[in-house]
Amino acid sequence: MERIKLEMKKIEIEFPGVKALKGVDFETVGGQVHALVGANGAGKSTLMKVLAGDNTHYAGQIVIDGKNVEIRSPKDAKHLGIEIVYQEVDTALIPYLSVAENVMFNRMVNDMKGRFLVDWRKMRLESQEVLKKLRVELDPDAIVGDLTLAQKQMVLIARCMAGECRMLILDEPTAPLSNAETEDLFRVVRGLSADGVAVVFISHRLNELYEICDTITIMRDGRNVVRMPLTK
Ligand SMILES: Nc1ncnc2c1ncn2[C@@H]1O[C@H](COP(=O)(O)OP(=O)(O)OP(=O)(O)O)[C@@H](O)[C@H]1O
Ligand SMILES: [Mg+2]
Repeated sequence: MERIKLEMKKIEIEFPGVKALKGVDFETVGGQVHALVGANGAGKSTLMKVLAGDNTHYAGQIVIDGKNVEIRSPKDAKHLGIEIVYQEVDTALIPYLSVAENVMFNRMVNDMKGRFLVDWRKMRLESQEVLKKLRVELDPDAIVGDLTLAQKQMVLIARCMAGECRMLILDEPTAPLSNAETEDLFRVVRGLSADGVAVVFISHRLNELYEICDTITIMRDGRNVVRMPLTK
């Protein structure tokens, strides 16, 4: 997998009555865990939704691997290898399906094009491979509705990694987690960055950023105000 090199330049987003992004610059590379911090309403989620293809009306420039790209749909983002896990994990999961089915969900939908049969055995094995690679211990046959929130989050991260993900955005992933669950998540994030994935980690907790992140971008009122390495 080729490491991503991403640059966002002068990104602007306007919603009715509010200019949420006023010319934001952001850059990161594969292998980096990049903290994105700032007060409520600073524009962190809005900026990352641009990358995920969920804020399609942005102005400004996005350069990936030296080429100008447009991200005008979630599909565009996927093709570029960019995936996001939002805090509201339940809306992205199908509670009455298994871990394997939820992990392989996007693949399942894509593979089904023009066909009516899914190779369940293959899908289950592939989901196990993904979970194993992430070193997440989850029963592929467990029903997702029965999982804890932390486990559901892992299912979504695994779903991202089942595709060709080069950049993973986690929007305030630790807010609802216990300390032990946070440590589990950090272990997974470290593994991903060692594999060359660019991880963006949105958080309010400064202390944990020092533990997991190597670069920090601080936003305030729709602008990026600081970008610097974090020394450990
Ligand atoms: N879909 C939308 N429609 C209208 N306004 C929006 C929309 N999304 C975000 N905003 C506004 O844009 C600004 C930035 O919001 P955003 O959610 O990006 O902040 P944030 O930094 O993620 O904050 P938080 O830490 O609370 O998650 C806020 O003023 C917010 O109200
Ligand atoms: Mg937010």
